[in-house]
Amino acid sequence: MAEALVNFDLNTALQEAERRFTAANPRSEQRFRKAAESMPGGNTRTVLHYSPFPVAFQGGSGAKLTDIDGHTYTDFLGEFSAGLYGHSDPRIVAAAQKAIAAGLALGGPNEHEAELASLVKARFPSIDLMRFCNSGTEANLMALATARAITGRSHIMAFLGGYHGGVLSFPNGPSIINAPFPTIMASYNDTDGAVSLIERHKDELAVVIVEPMMGSAGGLPADRSFLLALREATAKHGIVLLFDEVMTSRLSPGGLQEKLGIRPDLTTFGKYLGGGFNIGAFGGARWLMERFDPTRADYIAHAGTFNNNTMTMAAGVVGLRDIYTPEASLALTELGEGFREKLNALFKAKGVAMQMTGVGSLMNIQFQGTPIRRPADVLPAKEKRALIHLEMMARGFYFARRGYLTLSLALEGQDFEGFVTALGSVVDEYQTILRD
Ligand SMILES: Cc1ncc(COP(=O)(O)O)c(C=O)c1O
Repeated sequence: MAEALVNFDLNTALQEAERRFTAANPRSEQRFRKAAESMPGGNTRTVLHYSPFPVAFQGGSGAKLTDIDGHTYTDFLGEFSAGLYGHSDPRIVAAAQKAIAAGLALGGPNEHEAELASLVKARFPSIDLMRFCNSGTEANLMALATARAITGRSHIMAFLGGYHGGVLSFPNGPSIINAPFPTIMASYNDTDGAVSLIERHKDELAVVIVEPMMGSAGGLPADRSFLLALREATAKHGIVLLFDEVMTSRLSPGGLQEKLGIRPDLTTFGKYLGGGFNIGAFGGARWLMERFDPTRADYIAHAGTFNNNTMTMAAGVVGLRDIYTPEASLALTELGEGFREKLNALFKAKGVAMQMTGVGSLMNIQFQGTPIRRPADVLPAKEKRALIHLEMMARGFYFARRGYLTLSLALEGQDFEGFVTALGSVVDEYQTILRD
């Protein structure tokens, strides 16, 4: 009886879950401590840290991950959306192996890069011309720099809670390590506020950067009317509208921009586009991108040793051409919608203040019943997030500590059923804690 009562207290429940987690993961704990001798916090990618320490993985196959203590997880994180193809899809592996066998680091153009560019262009009508780089961060840095160079204006506008990369992060305003672009901050889904800021700063504003659905902030979709107003206000003043579709480009054959019927001037890509290898890309209207043509007298140079690395380019082609076809994109998005609805129905049936936000195959668990339209509406619920995360890991399901899930093509019907059952059992166990 005393035990049961203790479990109703959130902090105690979390401590117990952490104790069980630590006992179950001795090798991961040892690795974590050793790693901290040479890396701050044992970490080289902040988002992969969680308390008490993250499990380290030995490998993955399809939708399964195995950690170094021998546990197997069904992977609902999908490498924050870069893992669309699952772990080592044989078609991706074959393309990469062929590229490796043909020789790496060739130091010249190859046959893959233009094919990948033409596949993207065919799917995204807003892309007249595009270029590759190595990460989503780099893509956004290049796109913002392009807009500033070509408009001759200085400022960028971003949204509170927006995430566009390690040096382009705006949790409560620009991060202390952001690239030093003069920045105007606006509030997401606040149409009047954003439009009046655009009007006020029209002479210095080069570009408005926006995620059509905020990923890092918690799977928060933009209202179509909000994005349309941004489109109209930027077009009126010759300001570049940049859609960061690093994550959302998977949400229909032509990205969220196609689903919403809005044409940005520039779009950035990354994540899954390289088949699971590192990639970034930026592209859009001819008048902006054509200046990168090195045959022009007034060309702008865009560098990057690995921009066309053969492994990424070859894997990206196979991924987009043969695997993530328009039909596959539509099907995965529909699957994600159904999964989210099922989880929302589960929370309702169990009477807990939880909900799933997101669009299609990108989604986030939230710990409130109240509506969420912008990052400021999201309750942090740090301890609840930690508790659910550890309890789901104990049941063999992996996703981000913040509650972020991205679906891969490797997930099967039983994986989804298993997830719903497991989350249902966690919710049952902690119903009193999760009710309010
Ligand atoms: C919307 C968005 N933009 C940009 C990035 C940065 O991409 P990368 O991690 O490849 O630099 C991310 C990464 O999570 C993202 O979600």
